[in-house]
Formats: sequence, C-alpha cells, structure tokens
Amino acid sequence: MKIKTFMLVVWVIILFSNFTYQDTKPGIDSLKEAFKNDFTIGTALNSAQIEERNPTVNNLIIQQFNVATPENVMKSALLQPKWGIYDFKMADKLIEYGNKHNIKINGHTLIWHSQLPGFMRRMQSTDSVKTFFNDHIKTVAGHYKGKVFSWDVVNEALNEDGTLRNSIFLQKLGEGYIAEAFRLTQEASPDTELYYNDYNNEQPAKRAGCIKLIKKIQESGARIDGVGIQGHWHLGKIPLKDIEESILAYSALGIKVMITELDIEILPRNFQGADVSQRLANTTESNPYPNGLPDSIQKQLADDYEALFKLFLKHKDKIARVTFWGVNDGDSWLNNWPIRGRTNYPLLFDRNNEPKPAYFKVIGLKQ
Ligand code: G3I
Repeated sequence: MKIKTFMLVVWVIILFSNFTYQDTKPGIDSLKEAFKNDFTIGTALNSAQIEERNPTVNNLIIQQFNVATPENVMKSALLQPKWGIYDFKMADKLIEYGNKHNIKINGHTLIWHSQLPGFMRRMQSTDSVKTFFNDHIKTVAGHYKGKVFSWDVVNEALNEDGTLRNSIFLQKLGEGYIAEAFRLTQEASPDTELYYNDYNNEQPAKRAGCIKLIKKIQESGARIDGVGIQGHWHLGKIPLKDIEESILAYSALGIKVMITELDIEILPRNFQGADVSQRLANTTESNPYPNGLPDSIQKQLADDYEALFKLFLKHKDKIARVTFWGVNDGDSWLNNWPIRGRTNYPLLFDRNNEPKPAYFKVIGLKQ
C-alpha cells in the first residue's frame, strides 16, 4: 500500500513537472524550431567552432541554428593569402560542418575593403586590381558553387551619408564594380543567392544610398536576391522605426530582407555602426561589468530583443533570415572592438552557453 501511494506521488510529480515545462516553455530548447515557419536563424562561426573543439558550444550550435556565416574564414585575406595562391582548408571544413549538421552556409564575403590580403592593399595599378577582383570572385565563387547557399557578394560599400565608400575598388574600378561583382558571381555560381550587406543601412541617408545601389545592380541586368541589414545595434536605442521603414522599402525592390549580424552593444561607445577601423582608448569607465551584468541592463537587453523580434515577426513575409553575430557572449567580437579586452554581453547565450533572459523573451513570442 505504502509503495503504491509512493508510486502515485512520484507519478503525479512527474506529470506535474512535465505540464509545467510544456506550459511555460514550449519549443524552449531551440530558436530554429520556434521560428521555423517564419525565417531561418543563423549564427557566425569562428575557427574553433568549425573544428568542433568545445562539445557544449557545438551542441548549442546544432540545437539552435539552421544557417551559419563564417565570421572570418571566407574573407579574402584568409582565402587568398598570396597572389594567386588560395587556401580553402578552413572554409572547406565549414562546408563539411554545414553538411554534417544540416546547417546552410552563407558565404561572407567576396568583395570588402577590409581584411584584404596584404599584397592587394599595396596594389597601385588598375590592371592589377581588376585582375585580383575578377580572379578572386571567379575562383572563390566557383570553388563553392553548389556548396554555399548564398554569398554576401559585396560588403559595406557605402558611407553613412549614402555615397559610395572611397575603397580601393571604387578608386580603381569605378562605381560599376558593384554590379560587376554580382554579374561575375552569378556567372561562377548561377544557383547561389546573391546579397548586398551593410551596417547602419536602416538609417535614412544610408538606406537611400543602399536603395540606389540595389537599383543600379538591377538596372545593369545582374541579379541580386537580397539585402542584409547587419543589425549591430545599441542597448535602449534600437531604431525600430528606421528598421521597419527599411524592411518595407527594401522589400518593395522585390528582394529578400535579412538581419545578418545581429548583436546589441551594452557597453559605452560614442558612435554607432561597425567600421572596424574605428578604435577607442581603454579607460576604467569603458569596462563597467567585468563580473556580471546588473539586472536592470539584463532586463533592458531582453526588452530590446523582444521588441526586435516582434517587429521581425510582423514582417516575417519579407524577412528570410535572422543571423546573430556569434554564438555566445564570450566569443563576440564586441569584447575586443572598439576597445580590446572588455566584457560584453550582446547575445542571447552567456559565457557558459546558458540562455539569458533575452532568449526567453524572444522564444516566448512563439508560445
Ligand atoms: O587570427 C589572428 C590571430 O592570429 C592574431 O593573433 C590576433 C591578434 O589580434 O588577430 C587574429 O585576427 C583577428 C580576427 O578577427 C580573428 O579573430 C583580427 O585581429 C580581428 O581584426 C578580426 O576581427 C574581425 C573583424 O570582422 C575584422 O574586420 C571579427 O572577428 C569579425 O567579427 C568582424 O566581422 C565583421 C563582419 O565581417 C562585417 N561586418 C562587421 C563585423 C564586425 O566588425
């Protein structure tokens, strides 16, 4: 009798705890599952993650994300370290990783003024730059033909006022280089989706420049499938109105809209965006939370992410993908930019790979 009563109590506890779990947290264990009918959910992967060095991180990636962007390993400095000599080793590993874990790969990036190979930065003649430009696109896009789902063909070609950045490509090849990059990529890899990617391009002036740039590509006869709004935003200052207007304006051009490098800066910084050449000095005030985040900031972060995902869901018919720029707070680039060695908290998972309150707010939208 006693045993029967005990078993009944155990059964009731199990039943109750199950109900509680399902009642409060359905689909709680996976972003990609929660948003599977809305948009894909991506992350940026670094070399250690591609090599599956940490099993906990690896499990988290596989559980949460269905698309990935290489944080660095497909940039030109890494793929073509010497002129005409390509090193595909690590990027090929990323393709294997994607195949193994059913994660689609967004190639990042073919033409970018930053992280260029040293030999290329020193080029003087138009002829050399043109040769690099043509060969790099043909070789890299050709190598990954049928292997990557999409390419960020051109990255960050705009200034904040919407004019074209005075990069080595603009200087030597003229403004037609952008449409030409799309044409060459399409030729080398016809079935791959082709995107333009930038930061702050939800801001009105830069957005206008971005629309002009996209229209020029379209008018040239080259194909462009989507635009990436990187989404490096700041705590308590998410430009929701600008983001919404941008989603509508870009979508009206007949292309997909993606949020491609989402993170929320919580540390002090006196400028916006993600221009990697900008740096700031390290002061005692610049790293205020080395031992943990105060509850008030944690809450603001959760509220900001919730507001963003509410907006993304409102426009899910126009948004194809939302990619976070990193897996957990510990490996975010924002720990080292624009000041090295800070402790930042911009993502949904903490340094122990545990979901933060922001994660529960985001996934809670699908309950
Ligand atoms: O690999 C070297 C290592 O050998 C060396 O010891 C170390 C010393 O500094 O540097 C390592 O390279 C760093 C690399 O990241 C890999 O960790 C570079 O210094 C560092 O500059 C580089 O930063 C990357 C940055 O792009 C460079 O432009 C960030 O990880 C990456 O998150 C960031 O990503 C960009 C997107 O591609 C485009 N949009 C903005 C975004 C954030 O800046």
